[in-house]
Amino acid sequence: MSLPKVSVIGAGQVGSMVAEHIAIKELADVYLFDVVDGAAKGKSLDIMEGMPHWKSDSTLEGYTVGPNGENYENLKGSDIIVITAGMARKPGMSRDDLLYKNVDIVKSAAENVKKYSPNSMIIVVTNPMDIMTYTAYKIIKPEGNKIMGMGGTLDSGRFRTFVAKELGVSVEDVTAFVVGGHGDDMIPFVRYCSVGGIPLSDLLPKEKIDQIVARTRNGGGEIVSYLKTGSAYFAPGISVTVMVESIIKNRKRVITAPALLHGELGKYYGVDGFFVGVPVKIGKNGVEEIYKLNFLPEERKLWDISASHVKENVDKVNAYLHI
Ligand code: LAC
Repeated sequence: MSLPKVSVIGAGQVGSMVAEHIAIKELADVYLFDVVDGAAKGKSLDIMEGMPHWKSDSTLEGYTVGPNGENYENLKGSDIIVITAGMARKPGMSRDDLLYKNVDIVKSAAENVKKYSPNSMIIVVTNPMDIMTYTAYKIIKPEGNKIMGMGGTLDSGRFRTFVAKELGVSVEDVTAFVVGGHGDDMIPFVRYCSVGGIPLSDLLPKEKIDQIVARTRNGGGEIVSYLKTGSAYFAPGISVTVMVESIIKNRKRVITAPALLHGELGKYYGVDGFFVGVPVKIGKNGVEEIYKLNFLPEERKLWDISASHVKENVDKVNAYLHI
């Protein structure tokens, strides 16, 4: 059976979830890479041995990456590469606290992507996500549509869940998305949230909506506070799979994701040459369209705060990597 090839760099909690979901849905063969000796091999074998029960013929392979990038040559020919490698948050940490630790890790992964499979579609998951997507972009230098971050799908899933549970309705009927940086000042976009087509503001009082917005923004932190030793991975793994599926099946899903903003649209968003979460169409050509949100003045203010926060971190990465 011939399936597309998806490589996942980082076989930690998120990476292995991504591998499992892709395999269960038989979207691709999955190649896992990790620096921890045996981790990628053991997890890929473990996942593959469950597949007969799901009637999936996805093949999984795992590779230990050596100190000099040994085994990364197996990235060759990947249709999609998902970068999850990096440290996760512990209680009390913000995603930004991971910046310098994870820049080094993502830089090394990206150099090998560039060396062995520069034409792959790339999805970056490592936090702080918008900045790590930028880091990988600066090193690999792919066309802008071929690289994106995961973040909006996860945050939008949280927003939809909280709205559905509050109203006691099916999650399927809740349309909601989150834009901006995948950080403390992300923007759950309340004005465009609807339930079966009915605006959320017709269904819930402002105080309730404000609580849901606050909980969504702190959704990642809430999970970290319970887990204590790491951050969320079930919903992140599913969110990456949604993006992988939309690329492989050319589904043209409209989701939010950190996408490269530049040119006229960049000017509108006040972003030039880096990644911030916006509504996008995802298909076989990656980010096939970026949509313009017609901000009201107060929404524009929130956007500017979030985008300028991302920019501060972009400047730090530029100084650190001398780029
Ligand atoms: C979260 C991490 C993945 O939001 O950023 O849970």
